[in-house]
Amino acid sequence: MAGTGTAPGATHSALGAPAERIEGRLKVTGGARYAAEHPLPGRAQAWPVPATVARGRVTAVDAADALRIPGVLAVLTHENAPRLAEPDDRTLFVLQDASVPHRGWFVALVVAETLESARAAAAAVRVDYAVDEHDVTLTPDHPDAYEPETVNGDFPGRREIGGPDGAPAAVRVDVGYEVTPLHNHPMEPHASTAHWDDGELTVYSSSQGGNTVRDTLASMFETSAEHITVVSAHVGGGFGSKGTPRPDVVLAVLAARATGRPVTVSLPRRYLPAVVGHRAPTLHRVRLGAGRDGRLVSLAHEVTTYTSHVKEFVEQAAVSARVMYGAPHHFTTHHVVRLDVPSPSWMRAPGEAPGMYALESAMDELAAELGMDPVELRAVNDPDREPDSGKPFSSRHLVDCLREGARRFGWSGRDPRPGARAEGPLLLGTGVAAATYPVLVSPSTAEAEARPDGTFAVRVNATDIGTGARTVLAQVAADALGVALERVRIEVGCTTLPAAPLAGGSSGTSSWGWAVHDACARLAERLAEHGGTPPAAGVTARADTAGRADAESDYARHAFGAHFAEAAVDTVTGEVRVRRLLGVYAAGRILNARTARSQFVGGMTMGLGMALTETSTLDPAFGDFTESDLASYHVPAHADVPDVEAHWIDESDPHVNPMGSKGIGEIGIVGTAAAIGNAVHHATGVRFRELPLTPDKVL
Ligand code: MOS
Repeated sequence: MAGTGTAPGATHSALGAPAERIEGRLKVTGGARYAAEHPLPGRAQAWPVPATVARGRVTAVDAADALRIPGVLAVLTHENAPRLAEPDDRTLFVLQDASVPHRGWFVALVVAETLESARAAAAAVRVDYAVDEHDVTLTPDHPDAYEPETVNGDFPGRREIGGPDGAPAAVRVDVGYEVTPLHNHPMEPHASTAHWDDGELTVYSSSQGGNTVRDTLASMFETSAEHITVVSAHVGGGFGSKGTPRPDVVLAVLAARATGRPVTVSLPRRYLPAVVGHRAPTLHRVRLGAGRDGRLVSLAHEVTTYTSHVKEFVEQAAVSARVMYGAPHHFTTHHVVRLDVPSPSWMRAPGEAPGMYALESAMDELAAELGMDPVELRAVNDPDREPDSGKPFSSRHLVDCLREGARRFGWSGRDPRPGARAEGPLLLGTGVAAATYPVLVSPSTAEAEARPDGTFAVRVNATDIGTGARTVLAQVAADALGVALERVRIEVGCTTLPAAPLAGGSSGTSSWGWAVHDACARLAERLAEHGGTPPAAGVTARADTAGRADAESDYARHAFGAHFAEAAVDTVTGEVRVRRLLGVYAAGRILNARTARSQFVGGMTMGLGMALTETSTLDPAFGDFTESDLASYHVPAHADVPDVEAHWIDESDPHVNPMGSKGIGEIGIVGTAAAIGNAVHHATGVRFRELPLTPDKVL
């Protein structure tokens, strides 16, 4: 996998340089402790018991056999578990009543001296249910579907400009696409270790944001946040599924309270799909109308999705159409239906990933109808202002990304006719798609201290979920202080540090970095007052970006990108293999060329999985997901990813934050599936409109 990128001033300043991960050695030597790896004295292990019916009530729990297994300390159920205050997020309200809202919902928790005892005892717990009928099947015309007022991200569910049915158009496309449920499946399963000590609670939790975990536990366990410390020092990925607290942390704290012991709950991989969220399936109808010149006269994107009976979470898949292309008739809406399904939640580029798959596939269909190059079609429809809000873009270099990508990929001279390139039984094709992701930023605090020994301590409760956040924040600090990176000691991942928002929405570096930048800039001034040398007690400066990071902007702020793919389709086996993926991004200033490239390539790899192999199937009879482990839920392996390149263009955006960074964690997944689907159409001449493009569909 090749990959390059230029960062302005990379050789002069720590910012932009391809610095290696500060904690890299700790991680590869096993010195980095994850949430389940804190063997506190007397620690017990717990194993949950998932419901085996899709809907109903627990009528009886017989724990007698389980309690006879040596080493078992407790079997917690809704009948004996400590009571909790009801949280806003009802997926956390576990072991509080007898209802079973979906299969896999936890109905009991066994706590034991060892993991083996806990697991054996969990299998010995007998649960009786009263079973109700269930419905987990999403259909485009489900009788219970409704149009929600708002969707995930607080966007309006429906927007309509100029009437939905459009103006007379020379060329029309009216097509449907389907994206099945998808799961985040981070490498480290959700895990928490909890310990109560004289009213003080310490929790090691695999989370994207410890402050939210602390505040949620404070309200559910009716204690003050000052008595709770949440440590998330190292996190083995999350992809959105650890963006909010999950049942593992509530169960660990419950069990620690009930038994008086430190307790670890490490959720088995097979239990994750039902309880830690997933990307809900989306059914799309996209209607485009354009003149012969390719200019859109109408754009309608309608999305149907589901949520659970536990909470409303609506994948905002039509929202990106409001950013991408303008049209005199512009219509976007969402329909959602409550089903007896596990609760969906955030997954990398929620909304954009499935929404842009549909929109960018439809744009490719329109280009084919028009006989127009798909890069040119996007260029003629590149708006001056954000179509929905009318605001000017803080920066929008999508067309530059498309042109640079076309140049690097070797797009020019492409024969647009489908099915024109063959290698024996293989048909070859290339495709392109655009990508976008919003610039999100939240208020954060941070603290910087100059020490007499010449080092600088920088503290912020950021979470490094494997992205390299520690390293990038140290670079931001070094740059603002004007010192070498080696002199900065960065502390993240604990709620005793200055409060900070979660690692999510591609906003972490912008949010934390802004506060770190400000604290360090202030510290540099203070230090200058001391003649550049700190006194024996050190000098400290603090920053809080509240009121600035959350201020409404006069600009529409988004990152953009262009994805190119080459696919080979085997006409004998139906297998699709991607030979090349290339992405070019305009995402503000790139702060670390090495970790940024990994973020882009990681996103593209996840998009490759979305396009070709990843799917979670809701079994209508059983009511939960058929694929519940990594042997059946197929994430790409190295052999699936032969050649991935990530590039970026230098983009200077003064309207985002002091570093000029936009956020890069999610945009890599956004256009990848459409680019691959478009390449498959170019190879074969056939439109497949349901992901993933598995051989059974392609043959
Ligand atoms: Mo990301 S899905 O915002 O954690």
